[in-house]
Amino acid sequence: MSTFWSIWVIVLTLGTIFGCWWLLWATRKGQSTDQETDRTTGHSFDGIEELDNPLPKWWFYLFLGTVIFSLGYLALYPGLGNFQGFLGWSQHNQWEEEVQLADARYGEIYARYGDVAIPELAGNEDAMQMGQRLFANHCAVCHGSAARGAIGFPNLTDDAWLYGGKPEDIVETLNNGRQGNMPAKGFMPNMTPTQVDQVVNYVLSFSNRAKNEEAAEAGAAVYAQGCAGCHGPEAKGNQAMGAPDLTDDAWLYGSTYEWIEETVLYGRENMMPAQSGRLSEDQIHILAAYVYSLSN
Ligand code: HEC
Ligand code: HEC
Repeated sequence: MSTFWSIWVIVLTLGTIFGCWWLLWATRKGQSTDQETDRTTGHSFDGIEELDNPLPKWWFYLFLGTVIFSLGYLALYPGLGNFQGFLGWSQHNQWEEEVQLADARYGEIYARYGDVAIPELAGNEDAMQMGQRLFANHCAVCHGSAARGAIGFPNLTDDAWLYGGKPEDIVETLNNGRQGNMPAKGFMPNMTPTQVDQVVNYVLSFSNRAKNEEAAEAGAAVYAQGCAGCHGPEAKGNQAMGAPDLTDDAWLYGSTYEWIEETVLYGRENMMPAQSGRLSEDQIHILAAYVYSLSN
């Protein structure tokens, strides 16, 4: 809020409160007693007269109490323009505190499994229920609630791995994230359209789906030059850089001619976000065991 609006709010708020106070005080004057009297205000309408009685005491003090309460509230909590109140309370801080409390409470439960080896933990039903909840909260948006993935998001339930399915590989994936980059046309930036067609057919031939056998045969040379450096001479992939196995039936993107052609022409960039810092070490340990359990 700019200084002008901050002062505007402060003046308006305090002005209203003191206005109420003044009104209360002014109308009370001269009425030292709260005994009912026969005095009237002198105002009469249709024969009905208005009695000039003082405010009931309970009402007066209740009103006074609300004025004092509001001043106290405004001193302690945010309410007066940019003034944050002497308690330093904010929604954000309160949320942080609650998260810390929850971490302290559940942290102990997670910590119980911290020393259990991942393959063993994967067989622990209680821990895996916890893992499932963590997965639903932190991973399902991308990998799906059943962890079966989607276009661009790997299926975690099969045994095809971009980066490896050993416990330490999964922990590394979760802690530091992963980045899969395939440059357009691989290592052959000057690949001709004919060569693109050939190499796509060659990739399709790994699963016996080549559209044109001749082109597929010619594609072997293109593959050796432009692709083998990452996907391996036998196209079995390379987990060190996340280059997928092109011979299995697990596909990160579509498996049709058009999808593969698109990958070759434009390349791919993909990212698994790092979880360390977002989740505790113990939570990551449980999640890694959960992921491990999905395919073992
Ligand atoms: C923002 C989306 C997103 C979120 C959230 C996310 N992931 Fe991923 N994850 C990806 C993508 C994309 C990849 C593939 C990266 C690549 O292609 O290089 C991936 C890859 C992985 C892999 C590697 C799979 C393999 O074949 O090697 C694992 C394991 C994994 N994620 C587990 C998780 C877990 C557990 C969580 C929850 C803590 C999670 N992911 C949260 C997007 C996400
Ligand atoms: C610099 C390394 C590199 C080179 C060279 C390379 N790729 Fe890739 N390729 C990758 C990576 C990494 C991915 C995974 C991208 C991701 O995680 O989204 C990939 C993905 C693919 C996919 C998608 C696989 C799937 O499961 O959907 C295909 C198809 C593919 N590459 C074919 C090729 C072909 C054909 C060539 C040669 C023209 C080639 N690649 C060259 C690294 C490479």
